[in-house]
Amino acid sequence: MKTVALILDSKRDRTVYTISPEASVLEAVQRMAERGVGALLVMQGEKIVGIITERDYARKMILKGRSSNETPVCDIMTSPVMYVRPRQTNEECMKLMTENRLRHLPVMDGEKLIGLISIGDLVKDIISEQQFIIEQLEHYIMGQRA
Ligand SMILES: NC(=O)c1ccc[n+]([C@@H]2O[C@H](COP(=O)([O-])OP(=O)(O)OC[C@H]3O[C@@H](n4cnc5c(N)ncnc54)[C@H](O)[C@@H]3O)[C@@H](O)[C@H]2O)c1
Repeated sequence: MKTVALILDSKRDRTVYTISPEASVLEAVQRMAERGVGALLVMQGEKIVGIITERDYARKMILKGRSSNETPVCDIMTSPVMYVRPRQTNEECMKLMTENRLRHLPVMDGEKLIGLISIGDLVKDIISEQQFIIEQLEHYIMGQRA
């Protein structure tokens, strides 16, 4: 089972996309669309104060008929934010996500934010690990037949 550090290494880009708590929800949604991500960490300087996701937008804005231009991010963000450490495993992250109904986890090394992983990153990692095992087994079976 891979560690969070290795999963982060396999991401194309380590940049964590963020927004300030005072920004409007409209700006947050625009940034998510521009960056092709489903969540933004809400940062006050170096400190994580929340997370805003597509789900927050769907449930707390659209369903309630609120104006995304007039609502600040801090009104609908989720806080506090659960995080993981680089040495934790894929399995531990999956458990945290399933039990707490989360799709994104920031990665903290001490006090420093070093990345973010999503449920898609974990699934992609599990699929590639299974693919590797299948290929190894196929090689083994072919070797037995030869
Ligand atoms: N092929 C791949 O490499 C890959 C990896 C992850 C997700 N996906 C696909 O993307 C879709 C949605 O994925 P999801 O539900 O995991 O969530 P998502 O759309 O939020 O995440 C997509 C990717 O963006 C990254 N990301 C999200 N928010 C970020 C942020 N604030 N800062 C930095 N990176 C951030 C994630 O780590 C992930 O790699 C799914 O269809 C999934 O299959 C593909």
